[in-house]
Amino acid sequence: MEKFFWTENLTKRFDGLVAVGNVSLSFTPGVITAIIGPNGAGKTTFVNVCTGVLRADGGKVYFRGRDITNLPPDRRVSLGVGRTFQITNIFQGLTVRENVRIPLLSRKRRADLEEETEKLLSLLNLQDVSETLAANISHGDQKLLEMAMCLAVEPEILFLDEPLAGVTPAEKGRIIDVIFSLKERGLAVVLIEHDMDSVFKVADEIAVMHRGELIARGVPEEIKNDQRVIDVYLGGLE
Ligand SMILES: Nc1ncnc2c1ncn2[C@@H]1O[C@H](COP(=O)(O)OP(=O)(O)OP(=O)(O)O)[C@@H](O)[C@H]1O
Ligand SMILES: [Mg+2]
Repeated sequence: MEKFFWTENLTKRFDGLVAVGNVSLSFTPGVITAIIGPNGAGKTTFVNVCTGVLRADGGKVYFRGRDITNLPPDRRVSLGVGRTFQITNIFQGLTVRENVRIPLLSRKRRADLEEETEKLLSLLNLQDVSETLAANISHGDQKLLEMAMCLAVEPEILFLDEPLAGVTPAEKGRIIDVIFSLKERGLAVVLIEHDMDSVFKVADEIAVMHRGELIARGVPEEIKNDQRVIDVYLGGLE
């Protein structure tokens, strides 16, 4: 299969610190790839460089055969590269429905605005809170709202930075259901997550970062039994 989204020797430094060093990774439509690793491993920085929030200091990012390394984030979004943030990025003073409408308003097709809004609210299971201010919905619903806003612009790859952090077990289940549904719709899903039970439940493939480097990549069973991964990360978790 033609490669879809991939990086080659991607590197990002902060002063002397190599936050991401020579990371070559690829992502595939309809596949959930988790990126795991200890705090400070470089996971968020990697996503930031892939999505254009940060400039790469070395290496390349390709999407559908095109070098997007130097494109600004909005151009990458319009090509189909979406992401959520570790700290949720929504408009607290607007209702859930109003939040969902914002990215939809920027599309060329406006006629089906209401229909698309309903579709997204129902896909993300947010109908019951659609008229509530975003500030007043649960943390899990805020995470789902941010995902709805990303999906409004119809990404083909979606980077999710810790979508399960700080949510209740019930909300976790709802978010995981949505992640599965994105995979079924053929999106490439890149999941940054510390919740290993969830990672091993949903991920088709796992990449492990440690001190900026990619130290392992494989199916969950391989990663679970990788001695280096156990030493630097999994072994230290409860
Ligand atoms: N804007 C920045 N300026 C300077 N250093 C930074 C910046 N962003 C991140 N870093 C450093 O780069 C390294 C990688 O950080 P990053 O946030 O990518 O890690 P992470 O794997 O996402 O960690 P976590 O699991 O805690 O979210 C860390 O040492 C961090 O302190
Ligand atoms: Mg992070």
